[in-house]
Amino acid sequence: MDSNKTPDVVVVSGAGGFIGGHLVADLLRSGKRVRAVDKKPLHEWYQQHENAESLVLDLSSFDACQIAVRHACEVYNLAADMGGMGFIERHKAECMLSVLINTHMLAAAAEAGVGRFFFSSSACVYAAGKQQQSDVAPLREEDAYPAMPEDGYGWEKLFSERMCRHFREDFGLETRLARYHNVYGPSGTWEGGREKAPAAICRKVAEAKLSGRGEIEIWGDGEQTRSFMFIDDCVYGSRRIMESDFNEPLNLGSDELVSINQLVDIVEEIAGSKFRRRYILDAPKGVRGRNSDNTLIKEVLDWAPSISLREGMEHTYRWIWDQMIHGTAKSGHNFT
Ligand code: NAD
Ligand code: GDD
Repeated sequence: MDSNKTPDVVVVSGAGGFIGGHLVADLLRSGKRVRAVDKKPLHEWYQQHENAESLVLDLSSFDACQIAVRHACEVYNLAADMGGMGFIERHKAECMLSVLINTHMLAAAAEAGVGRFFFSSSACVYAAGKQQQSDVAPLREEDAYPAMPEDGYGWEKLFSERMCRHFREDFGLETRLARYHNVYGPSGTWEGGREKAPAAICRKVAEAKLSGRGEIEIWGDGEQTRSFMFIDDCVYGSRRIMESDFNEPLNLGSDELVSINQLVDIVEEIAGSKFRRRYILDAPKGVRGRNSDNTLIKEVLDWAPSISLREGMEHTYRWIWDQMIHGTAKSGHNFT
């Protein structure tokens, strides 16, 4: 490869996953030269894009990261071992091992002189004490400190946020940080244990409808609250943050707060069926309430996520229903 070549490749790590797959599609649509990287074998990628260069690499090693960032002008670092509450509450060490990806990707990007580095952080960095009630005050960026994030996954994200900052200050690598709040949409994880509430509820409602069972299971008492961001807002916001001059962490999330029971109401309305709810009180629940304060992102970008939960869930339910009907479950489970 010609080492004098001007870097023009946009790298997306975690491109075989949910957000990465959509981001690659969007970058290609705007004419970028894209390198998509993930450790999963290609046939397991949620989306494959023939116009992207697709590499299967385990980015927990520095050598792999050096290959990934070659001739890169920008890196979107989305690779992580993660999932919804059912995964992160039971796999804390695995979540924390994503620090190897973040450390090595930052080091390789700094060494290669990459122009900009985007890190997908999480609302799980926020201090537990500020998320104890269903009618929670929306979380402002400064609420991450004094630190008491989600055990395991949240600590890793907070540490990696700070690493980004110090790579910028000490090595001149321009870093951009988004704290994603629960993202959902088509082509995401909807079964297998890593799925988050929106996809899980769609699957459970569709399953109850297909099987004629009258009941669905809900984790917790259903009165815990969250805000959920549709994937199109996530992709658009990530690119805007990357292009902006703002280098501190920014919330990227919806501020439409709903209880899990309200989320189930929406899905049942879309599905046109209602079911008895069985509440599993000792299931993984996470914080009692979480919402995004979007004051800062509106100031910085003059924009904030705005796609309604009803609209986004309509697309998501239809997509999950199709997966179940056409028997594309990764688990091999036949839902029909
Ligand atoms: P995802 O699990 O669908 O995608 C992550 C991808 O990273 C997977 O395809 C996985 O194979 C890949 N990966 C894991 N370890 C790797 C390694 N060592 N080398 C190369 N690839 C590896 O998750 P997602 O929902 O698309 O999330 C993308 C990013 O956004 C993650 O960093 C996640 O922590 C963050 N985030 C997501 C949400 C959300 O609600 N989806 C919320 C907050 C933060
Ligand atoms: N996953 C899941 N599955 N959650 C359910 C279910 C179910 O069947 N039923 C009810 N819930 C409840 C959970 O108990 C939790 O209280 C709430 O729905 C939200 O769960 P998740 O969507 O799994 O995760 P989260 O919002 O607590 O955290 C997610 O978002 C963060 C960013 O905001 C996780 O994906 C984190 O990894 C992510 O960083």
